[in-house]
Amino acid sequence: MTAPPVRLGVNIDHVATVRNARGGFHPDPIRAANMAVLAGADGITAHLREDRRHIREQDMERLRRNLFVPLNFEMAATAEMVEIAKRIRPNACCLVPEKREERTTEGGLDIIGGHAHLRPIIQELKGEGIRVSLFVEPEVEVMDAACELGAPVVELHTGTYSEAWAEGDEARIAHELSRLRRAAEHGAGIGLEIHAGHGLTLDNVGPVAALPQVVELNIGHFLIGEAIFMGLDEAVRVMRAAMDQGRAQVPA
Ligand code: PXP
Repeated sequence: MTAPPVRLGVNIDHVATVRNARGGFHPDPIRAANMAVLAGADGITAHLREDRRHIREQDMERLRRNLFVPLNFEMAATAEMVEIAKRIRPNACCLVPEKREERTTEGGLDIIGGHAHLRPIIQELKGEGIRVSLFVEPEVEVMDAACELGAPVVELHTGTYSEAWAEGDEARIAHELSRLRRAAEHGAGIGLEIHAGHGLTLDNVGPVAALPQVVELNIGHFLIGEAIFMGLDEAVRVMRAAMDQGRAQVPA
């Protein structure tokens, strides 16, 4: 017996990045989303940035109409994005920093440094039946702050963990993994649902999938990049397998 599999949310932003490099409609992020789902993705994630550098509003609308798995809308905590989210009604919204002053040095939302303005936004989205997560640093006190703000879910930023892997720095990998572990344990202990993501690859995903409290991983750049070499469906399949292999170490 092993623990239930970790859900894989495939982030399709960079399909839109390639499309926008030429204008026009190819490659279509919605076609990519459907292919990812057929290959084993449990959900689709897309980030509508304020500058619309990749995903556009129309992409979000088409995703909403065409997907038969949950849609996770990554967005800045602004009035404009809240209005769009209320219209599109995704299953989940992940609030992410877009401006320098919203983020910590590592990159997650700076909810310790005073983010009281997030509280009404979280409430408003929750009131629409949307599951809200906060993209934050893996720190115990940040878990407390997220809980205090009324967020049911946190997405742990795995950026510094992934950088440690890219550098091959074993001591730093162990340090970053223990930060993730402590935050996941504490967060789950106070009732938060724990997700994670950013910079995850086939090489580094296993230990994160093996954290028992983590129920969802959101992965984009590596999968879309690897799609150039092996195709998107195969990239999703091998990522799914690597996650399942990591998870197999967790007792049920
Ligand atoms: N989770 C969040 C909140 C993100 O903003 C992103 C994209 O930066 C990801 C996950 C996916 O990160 P990556 O594209 O590096 O896999």
